[in-house]
Amino acid sequence: MRYPQEVIEEVRTRNDIVDVISGYVKLQKKGGNYFGLCPFHNEKSPSFSVSPQKQMYYCFGCGAGGNVLTFVMEYENYSFVEALKLLADRAGVNLPEVEYSQEERAKADRRAMLLEINKLAAGYFYHQLQRPQGQQGLDYLKGRGLSDEEIRHFGLGFSNRTSNDLYQYLRSKGYADDILKESGLVTIEERGTYDKFWNRVMFPIMDVNSRVIGFGGRVMGDAKPKYLNSPETLIFDKSRNLYGLNFARVSREKYMLVCEGYMDVIAMQKSGFVNAVASLGTAFTAQHAALLRRYTEQVILTYDSDDAGVKAALRAIPILKEAGISAKVLDMKPYKDPDEFIKNLGADAFRERIRGAKNSFLFEIEILKRGYVLDDPEQKTKFYNAVAGRLLEFSEALERDNYIQAVSRQEMIPYEQLRSLVNRLGSLTGGVPPKERSLPGQNQETRRRKAEKEDGMLRSQRLLLTWLIERPGLFDKIDGIIGPDDFVEPLYHQAAEMVFTAQKAGNLNPAAILDHFINDEEQYREVAALFNASLDESLNNEEQKKAFSETVYRVKKNSLDHASRSAADIHQLQKLLQEQAALKKLSIAIE
Ligand code: UTP
Ligand code: MN
Repeated sequence: MRYPQEVIEEVRTRNDIVDVISGYVKLQKKGGNYFGLCPFHNEKSPSFSVSPQKQMYYCFGCGAGGNVLTFVMEYENYSFVEALKLLADRAGVNLPEVEYSQEERAKADRRAMLLEINKLAAGYFYHQLQRPQGQQGLDYLKGRGLSDEEIRHFGLGFSNRTSNDLYQYLRSKGYADDILKESGLVTIEERGTYDKFWNRVMFPIMDVNSRVIGFGGRVMGDAKPKYLNSPETLIFDKSRNLYGLNFARVSREKYMLVCEGYMDVIAMQKSGFVNAVASLGTAFTAQHAALLRRYTEQVILTYDSDDAGVKAALRAIPILKEAGISAKVLDMKPYKDPDEFIKNLGADAFRERIRGAKNSFLFEIEILKRGYVLDDPEQKTKFYNAVAGRLLEFSEALERDNYIQAVSRQEMIPYEQLRSLVNRLGSLTGGVPPKERSLPGQNQETRRRKAEKEDGMLRSQRLLLTWLIERPGLFDKIDGIIGPDDFVEPLYHQAAEMVFTAQKAGNLNPAAILDHFINDEEQYREVAALFNASLDESLNNEEQKKAFSETVYRVKKNSLDHASRSAADIHQLQKLLQEQAALKKLSIAIE
């Protein structure tokens, strides 16, 4: 998709970032910047900053950063073009008809066609269910307690026992073999063409905008596989979609219920728990968590009560935590899954279980306990030590103490005893949780120092770029000393080139430079961070001067060291050594 750079630029400059973000986040002015609670991770004190001067935002907590366009992309889950359209509308800018490259046009067309095909197929399956050939499917769904209205609401259907009637139908609508194959709904082989789904009840899978992107199909008996799912396609990415989210996202509850199965989502949603979603026959991923984080800060896991479900919950908890979502775990016993639970005990009992859902940490401790035979004093001691080790993961004293209290209640370990065990273990390990301590035989200290040094070098480069952007007057001071080539890290180098070139041309605009990295999210974030290294505002003028010259020195020195390591001949090396000697004097001249 290619909108001319000027158009993108115009849309961006006509949408002041502070105005736009204020519509989503409550901002407060502090010095030249604005601060608020970061919408991209969970936090209690504001570390999300918006700079009117740079027209950029940056979160010191989670590293999210960008310009007004990426803010809308991230917040609304929009593509670049969708965000551009929203902002163009907002500012009354008319977007020109875009010129697609041929490849982009083809891809956009294929996406659109795949969506049409899935929609047609959903209609077809739904129809079959209502006709004589779908009787068995209808009986099956009715037998599982679904009404006609619920079947309609979830768009459930039936795939016939005929070998390729869906294929015939889609061909009759004018779709060619290659796109039908790409949809994953048919397989085209030498021996013939077959529908993928055969004699199954069909669950259409929808994206957040209720567009059908794939299907799950269930056998009506005990055959295997129980569920067959559409393969991943251009429009169906299992790790980025959640079944039921199109309905769940408009629920008014503050939390989301995450379960394993299609039927679980349906059972919960039809019983009034509209805020239920499931991952699509795959494990819960970080992308799922990021998707959920747009709608909620709290998840209640309602996985199956069997071993696989417990395992899945233990995996999902840290993933959720990482995304800024706190998790609880619902006790499903004695039933297997939400569908069975609600069928047997009803919605009110389920609501009670939601109320009693267990804090994820306490759940983890409870599971940990299963690995020990507590009648045995030795094992019991080991268990207590393991618990204390886990408690050390809370670095904040108050939080840690709250958890010590909660665990001591749950596991009936006397509070004082547990607390002193945690403290003792903490002083033994220097407060580092056992998991992170070094393994025998590894020289962790060396590795740590090396990583720290590299980190420091990158930080100096970030700091310098941020400084130059915030106070362009400093370019004069480093003229002839530092150039783009002194930014050794390849990505930093690329960004520095753009900064220096723009400065020379007299139009230094960091938000515009950032646009060049729009196609690679990883790089985008890094460059955003590059322009937003935190300057220590508390330094006085003298200290700032000193810090600046030190930073210049470090960047230059690193660049010269780097060059001399790869110097091709003795002359080059001599020259570099001279420069290194000269650097010592130069760094003084900057002050
Ligand atoms: P379960 O085996 O727990 O089934 O799979 P269920 O949800 O209780 O299904 P019913 O109640 O027997 O109909 C949970 C989820 O795992 C995926 C599906 O998304 C299913 O809903 N799954 C399961 C598959 O993708 N393939 C399978 O063969 C089985
Ligand atoms: Mn089930």
